[in-house]
Amino acid sequence: MTEKDFIPNPYSATVEQGQVTWQSPSNIALVKYWGKLEHQIPANPSISFTLDSCRTTTTLKFSKKEQLSDDFDFELEFEGEKKDSFRPKIQKFLERVEQYLPFLKDYKFTIQTSNSFPHSSGIASSASGMSALALCFMSLEKQLDPEMTEEYFTRKSSFLARLGSGSACRSVEGELVVWGFQRNIYGSSDLYGVQYRDEVHDNFRNYRDTILLVDKGEKQVSSTVGHELMNGHPYAERRFRQAHDNLDRLKKIFRSGDLSEFIKVVESEALTLHAMMMTSEPYFLLMKPNTLAIINKVFRFREETGLHLCFTLDAGANVHLLFPEKEEELTLEFIGSELQQHCQNGQYINDRVGSGAQKLA
Ligand code: DP6
Repeated sequence: MTEKDFIPNPYSATVEQGQVTWQSPSNIALVKYWGKLEHQIPANPSISFTLDSCRTTTTLKFSKKEQLSDDFDFELEFEGEKKDSFRPKIQKFLERVEQYLPFLKDYKFTIQTSNSFPHSSGIASSASGMSALALCFMSLEKQLDPEMTEEYFTRKSSFLARLGSGSACRSVEGELVVWGFQRNIYGSSDLYGVQYRDEVHDNFRNYRDTILLVDKGEKQVSSTVGHELMNGHPYAERRFRQAHDNLDRLKKIFRSGDLSEFIKVVESEALTLHAMMMTSEPYFLLMKPNTLAIINKVFRFREETGLHLCFTLDAGANVHLLFPEKEEELTLEFIGSELQQHCQNGQYINDRVGSGAQKLA
């Protein structure tokens, strides 16, 4: 599908008012998206596990404007309170998607949103937030175009989510989602995320992700600034090729169930992401002493137990710990006794792989 396929024909139905609620999860990348062209066209393909309990819930209320105007009319509430600081981001999103959702200026919207994870925990809420919002607008479009197929609904939701925040396009579906064109992955596209449909070994069923909240402070590097660091980066081209190679490696690993190889790819991706940030201009060092303490303990735990606990990182100090369901008991015991002490206020979140966004009644 191309961008043009997402520009709708005139709608067949009219809708005066209503409301819709979606819950959409966060996701954790195994091969990282870092570097983009305009409008979140990714410099390389990425793949992520969709999470389950880290979610944003968004209700969109809409009513037809009595007098037409050439502005977007929306109000924002975050966890029950008016939130004007989010306005510019939403305004920009609406401007970007207007050509694909030509009804946006016909309605007055109220957007109410809340997160299941603690506020400013350093967990990226743009993926869950932007995907939930995209899905709400698509539910309204579906009412205007009742013939819309489910497949189109899902594709376009992911496409619109991407225009809000790149990684958000990987949150619409579960459990493994690829975004970015990769020669040998069927249906993969730079425009939206698609479910990974190749064979996946049972070892990866119900995979766990425990998120250690090491530093809950404001992000030091916004994603926009972060991705820009890859423009003119001395190692950019090599890195983009590596992402393709790592996706190929993961393909084989998903089939074979080889957890030791899985760990090598996933941890290398995390460290490469941070290495890119450390070698860009300006450079950033986002790991904290506790991030390193955790990583070193993970290495030692693996050596001593032969279990398959591994870490990954986003653009921050928090650590995502990935491990198979059947190693859960011993691993959680270790996290509680050895790693919790490195978390801010001892906080961590036990999550797992999930099946994607859900519409609430
Ligand atoms: C490090 O999706 O937050 O988490 O497209 O500018 O909104 P924008 O960036 P964003 O970047 C996420 C980068 C990452 C890696 C990943 O999730 O793939």
